[in-house]
Amino acid sequence: MCGIFGCILQDGDAAPVIHQALKRLEYRGYDSVGEVTIYEGKLCLKKDQGKIDEVHAVHNLDALPGRIGIGHTRWATHGAPLMINAHPHVDCTGQIAVVHNGIIENFVELKQELESRGHVFRSKTDTEVIPHLIEETLKGNSSLSLADAVLESVRRLGGSYSIAVVSAKEPDKIVCARNESPLVMGINEKAIYCASDIPAFLPMTNKAVIIEDGELVVLSSQGYEIKKIADSTVVVRKPKLIDWTPEMAVKQGYPHYMLKEIHEQPATLRNTLRLQEHYLDLMATFLDRAREVFVVACGTSYHASLASSYMFSKLAFLATYPVVASEFVEQHGKSVNIDSTILTISQSGETADTLAAVNAARQRAATVLGLTNVIGSTLTRVSRVYIGQQSGPEIGVAATKTFTSQLSVLAGLALRLAKKRGKISQDEMDFLADSLEKIPDTVATIIRTQEDRVKQIAKKYKEAKVFFFLGRGISTAVAYEGRLKLMEIAYIPAIAFPAGESKHGPISLIEPGFPVVFICPNDDTRKTLIGNIMEMKARGASIIAVIEEGDEEIKSLADDYIEVPKGIPDVISPVPFVIPLQLLAYYMAIERGCSPDTPRNLAKSVTVK
Ligand code: M6R
Repeated sequence: MCGIFGCILQDGDAAPVIHQALKRLEYRGYDSVGEVTIYEGKLCLKKDQGKIDEVHAVHNLDALPGRIGIGHTRWATHGAPLMINAHPHVDCTGQIAVVHNGIIENFVELKQELESRGHVFRSKTDTEVIPHLIEETLKGNSSLSLADAVLESVRRLGGSYSIAVVSAKEPDKIVCARNESPLVMGINEKAIYCASDIPAFLPMTNKAVIIEDGELVVLSSQGYEIKKIADSTVVVRKPKLIDWTPEMAVKQGYPHYMLKEIHEQPATLRNTLRLQEHYLDLMATFLDRAREVFVVACGTSYHASLASSYMFSKLAFLATYPVVASEFVEQHGKSVNIDSTILTISQSGETADTLAAVNAARQRAATVLGLTNVIGSTLTRVSRVYIGQQSGPEIGVAATKTFTSQLSVLAGLALRLAKKRGKISQDEMDFLADSLEKIPDTVATIIRTQEDRVKQIAKKYKEAKVFFFLGRGISTAVAYEGRLKLMEIAYIPAIAFPAGESKHGPISLIEPGFPVVFICPNDDTRKTLIGNIMEMKARGASIIAVIEEGDEEIKSLADDYIEVPKGIPDVISPVPFVIPLQLLAYYMAIERGCSPDTPRNLAKSVTVK
């Protein structure tokens, strides 16, 4: 997730307007920033790594001449957060500049093709293929307008993008295009704006035009023209009045970041699934050769590591040890050696306990592999190989979208490893890969169809003093995560166990009305789990079951149920099954008057203005 912005003003300089708009988009990314304006037929560009204020202090982002320009605030996906990778990116002639939010899936092929035609690339980004592609298109037909060249170029792009393009040769226009990344325009009598998100221009205008997927729009001081990318047909769309306050706008109308991030998951999962195959292959190669693998993490990331141990074992026959990072040194420190591999999972890549474990492992010459959301974080610097999960900045304290992204990367990794080791048939591989591809839609369905039901359940149980969460197999990790979310956000003491353990002590807590949440995918554990449900029911527990659609047997045993779509393979099931638990924690917090974005005693290192 990055923030893009552009403006054409009737009067005055664009640069300070772009700078302030990027500040309002900083919640979308903050590892580098850049602006380009057009003045006297030339592009004037400033960019650097660092937060906007830091870059401004060094380069004065307001000091660029010209009434038209575009800007970008970045969340790195391809290429480290360095100046060279900061947007805008330009073509070989320095006449065309592009800012981009999204991921170009086929950039490697395009880059090779363009390099073979003599284009010289300066960055490691996927974005840089776009200005070169436009340049190449114009070379082939110099009578084309910038808009037509952009249109032809974006037809060749795979993946997601919202882009804004300027050219020194057509100094009165900004051309934008969108596919699966947000793009909106704002308009008033004095200016026209394009942006990733409404807050960027809300202080200047509340008249907005939403650009849809598959559309291109040309902005000029005369107005705008929207076309369909596929067939160039013109689309007529009038501006709408937006009645959001600036605070609501940053949260896209959601009352809290946590809810926004829960709802973002279909989109973040789509982004995560766009990971480049060769990173997964490379990491799978390291795992394949490892003598022993520790999967080290804290909190929610630890629950992903726990789930991964089932994935690696079931699919690739690889035994791994999930370890809570703060225990790693005491538990395994002495046995770690040059043959050990530490797969480290950390959304932020900066968690102190996790980094301490990594340091201890490195001192003993172990191989460190990283999975993180923050490229440029310490974890990416100390890992032999790392994967960036591409979930965009996490603003809420509660990890939601970053957890499901971690799970989907780990499932993809286990699949690759299984293939490498010849442990999986092609049919099974195809089925699992296909199910993973469908996961974003599955998650969207759960949110759409189950959110109201979860709200009702939260109302019913809002006075509960304590909750139990139980699952078997890989769903144990989901039970732990459901417990953590509820405690962290709604301050309700909660207990989680593998369901088989509940009768070895914890069951003595049960008395009539005690809420017990069961995670019930339709896998090999289901029959035994029904036994566990009966045990609890017999003691008067109130059963809340997360079930597969149409599981009438468990439905009939449950006091309340939440359904997820049918037919999800067990190794992927934590992604859909955790969604109702995230919603439950959120709505329980609301019912109890807690503030889900600012749970007490927990701080987030990112501040949003
Ligand atoms: O950035 P990390 O993934 O290393 O953070 C680890 C935990 O602090 C984190 O997952 C925490 O448990 C969540 N915010 C809980 O929702």
